[in-house]
Amino acid sequence: MVKTVAGIEAPGERKYFRNLKATLVKQFRKEQRETEQQSGANLPEAGSKFKEMSQQENLALMLKFNPQMFSFSTFTMATALPFVSGPQISTMGPLIGKGMYGSGPFRFDPWEMYKANKISSMSAVLLGAVGEGKSSLAKSIALRFLLHGRKLAVMTDSKGEWTDVVQRAGGSVIEVGPGRPARINPLDPGTRPSRMTNGDPMTDEGWKSMVRSRRMSLLKTLIGILILRDLESTEHSALSHALDASVGKYGTEHVVLPHLVEFLRSPDPDMDPSLRRAYLNLSYALDRTKEGDLAGMFDGPTTVSFDASKPAVSVDTSALSGASAEAKRIVSACVGNWVEAMVTNPDGGQRLCVYEEGWDNINSEADLERMVVSWKLARHYGIFNLLVIHKLGDLNLAGDSGSRMNTMAQSLLADAGIKIVYRQDESELKHLADKLGLSDRECDIVRSLKKGQGLWRINQDSYCVENVLTAAEKALLNTDKRIVEGLADEEWDEVA
Ligand SMILES: Nc1ncnc2c1ncn2[C@@H]1O[C@H](COP(=O)(O)OP(=O)(O)O)[C@@H](O)[C@H]1O
Ligand SMILES: [Mg+2]
Repeated sequence: MVKTVAGIEAPGERKYFRNLKATLVKQFRKEQRETEQQSGANLPEAGSKFKEMSQQENLALMLKFNPQMFSFSTFTMATALPFVSGPQISTMGPLIGKGMYGSGPFRFDPWEMYKANKISSMSAVLLGAVGEGKSSLAKSIALRFLLHGRKLAVMTDSKGEWTDVVQRAGGSVIEVGPGRPARINPLDPGTRPSRMTNGDPMTDEGWKSMVRSRRMSLLKTLIGILILRDLESTEHSALSHALDASVGKYGTEHVVLPHLVEFLRSPDPDMDPSLRRAYLNLSYALDRTKEGDLAGMFDGPTTVSFDASKPAVSVDTSALSGASAEAKRIVSACVGNWVEAMVTNPDGGQRLCVYEEGWDNINSEADLERMVVSWKLARHYGIFNLLVIHKLGDLNLAGDSGSRMNTMAQSLLADAGIKIVYRQDESELKHLADKLGLSDRECDIVRSLKKGQGLWRINQDSYCVENVLTAAEKALLNTDKRIVEGLADEEWDEVA
C-alpha cells in the first residue's frame, strides 16, 4: 500500500504539501486583503506596472490549493485510474483556469507554445452559444496577458463591452459612430514601421509606396461600398491620378477626403471623355460621405490617435447600432485598416488581437481579406488572433458555399491552431464534430459543459478547461449586470 497526494508517491510529501498549502493560503489571504482595500479590485493598476508584475501576483494565488490524501495499492492505481488525469499543455504562462479532469492548472502562452512547436499557428477560434462565457474567457485571457507584458487590440467591439477592460488596463478606447466626436481620415498615413514586410529596414521610398497602396486599397473598398460594385478601369485611373494630385498639393500628412473630392470634381476639360466621366462619378459617390449618418465622420483629419505604445486599444462601434449597413461597413473598413496598420507593425511587441462577435467582419470582404492576411502573418507580426463567434454557421455568412468569401472565411477556422469549443446547441454539434474531428466522447463533453467551461482543441489533442475568474474579474466582466442595471425597480424585484 502506498500513500499518494494527487497521484504522486508520497514518502515525506504530506508534510511538504501541508507546509506549501499553509504558505499559499497565507499569501493568498494577504494579497486578497491588500487588493480589496485598493478599491476592491484584484486587478493590476493601469500602465507600466503591468509589465513589472510577476506571475505570482496574478491568478495563481487566487485559486485555493487543496491537496487530498488517498491510499491506493499500486495495482489499483494502474488499473482503476489509468487515464484519470488529462494531459497538461504547458507549465508556463498566464493561468487561465483549471483542467476539468484532474490535469491541474491550465496555463496558456501562445508565443511560448509556438516557440516550443506545441501550436502550428498564432490564431484561435472560440465558438459557443450565447451566455456561455466566451467573452469572459477572451477578456480574462486579455487581462492576464497584459499582466505578462503583452498588449491588447480589440479589433471590433460592436457592443462596447470591452471599454471597461481596456480602460482598466490604461488603454485607449476609440468610439466611432454618428454623433461621436471621433473623426477618421481614411487617407491617414498610419504608423510607419521600422521594417518592410520582407524584413529589410523601411526606406522613405518603401514607406511612400506602402502608404499609397494602403490608401488606394481603402479608397477602392470605400467607393465599392458606396456604388455597390467594383471599380471600372477608367475609375481606377481617375482615382489614382486624383490621389497623387491631392497628395502633391496638400502633402502626404495633411491630405483628407474633401481634397480628393475637389480634384475629382474638376477634371481637366481636355481629358478623354470617359476618364472625365469617371472623375465625376467618383466625386458624386464620395459626396455621400458628407451626408446623413456618415456626415462628420470621415471628412477631416483624424482626431483620435492610436497610440501603439499603450497596453490596450479598442474600437467601440456601439454607436453604429442604428446606422445603415453602408455606414457600418465604411467605418469598419477605415478603422480596420487603421488598427491593422498599428498591429501589423513588427515593432509593436506581442499583442492579442480580439475579434469580438466577429461575424460582422466576416460579412465584409475588406475585413475578411485583412483577417486572412493577419492569420497568415500573425507570427511575423508578433500577434495572436482570437476570433469569437457563436457557431460554425457564422462563417457561412461570408457567402455561398464555394464562393471566394466563403473559402476565405473557412480558412480562418482551418488555419487556426487552436479551437475552443464552449457549449453548443445540439443542432450545431454534429456539424462541428465533423469539421473538427471530435470523437463521441468529446461531443458528450461539449454537451455537458457549463458556463465558463470549454474544450480546447490544440492540434489533435483536447483539453477540458474551466476558466476561473477572480472576484474582481467577475465584477468587471459581468455582462448580465447591464441588463440588471437597466431594469425598473419592480422588474428587478421580479428577477430577485
Ligand atoms: N468562468 C466564469 N465564471 C463565472 N461567471 C462567468 C464565467 N464566464 C462567464 N460568466 C458570467 O456569465 C455571463 C455571460 O458571459 P459572457 O462571457 O458574456 O458570455 P458570451 O460571451 O458567451 O455570451 C457574464 O455575466 C459572466 O460574468
Ligand atoms: Mg459575448
